[in-house]
Amino acid sequence: METIEAQEAIIPMPRIGDKAPSFQAVTTQGNINFPDDYMGKWVILFSHPADFTPVCTSEFMTFAHLEDKFGKANCKLVGLSIDGLYSHIAWLRTIKDKIEFNGMKNVEVKFPLIEDISMEVAKKYGMIQPGESKTQAVRAVFFIDPNSMIRAIIYYPLSLGRNFDEIYRALIAMQTADEFAVATPADWYPGDDVIVPPAGSCGTAEERMAEQNGEVECKDWFFCTKKLAEKEVLETVLKN
Ligand code: BEZ
Repeated sequence: METIEAQEAIIPMPRIGDKAPSFQAVTTQGNINFPDDYMGKWVILFSHPADFTPVCTSEFMTFAHLEDKFGKANCKLVGLSIDGLYSHIAWLRTIKDKIEFNGMKNVEVKFPLIEDISMEVAKKYGMIQPGESKTQAVRAVFFIDPNSMIRAIIYYPLSLGRNFDEIYRALIAMQTADEFAVATPADWYPGDDVIVPPAGSCGTAEERMAEQNGEVECKDWFFCTKKLAEKEVLETVLKN
């Protein structure tokens, strides 16, 4: 039995660039061994405050509706709240049988929803932010890559439903950055110009400005872009 001190020990919040903390959990789709079960795939691990609450219900229906779209980008969804398995099951049944939202109805949530009554996983992932709630997880979104590295984290407060276009955009932008060795500017969507890596030396900076050859266009030596067709992006990242 853990002492109270051990239970309350401060766990550092995982950060971008860290390996995703591992855990085993019971979910609505059986037991999972995280992140090992997801090696080779992107994962969006997200928390919500509680079952049977309206904002969470709207989010779950939206995520379930988009599950195939995320799947085509080699990305699995895994949800979590500090509720028990039977609450999760009852809530997901209610969503399917009774709730209509934004034109969606009879929505079946097929991705795993973790039961985390002990808060073990929520604490490991910094999902309990006591200034917001001591007993409910905030709306966290962890983007975990195929090597189980945390690549991006977004947090929202309890009252704010997430923007799923942004979650999908961020996933595709990170995959594009990996596949094409580029960065993506503000508000980038597939088809928009991408940013080429910065010049690593004064010589290269000079050359870049002198040799703008049609492919690369520089606003200044440190800010160079090139075209990357939407078709090329989508054919590369939507392999499944
Ligand atoms: C909701 O999902 O509606 C919700 C959950 C916790 C606090 C506020 C809203």
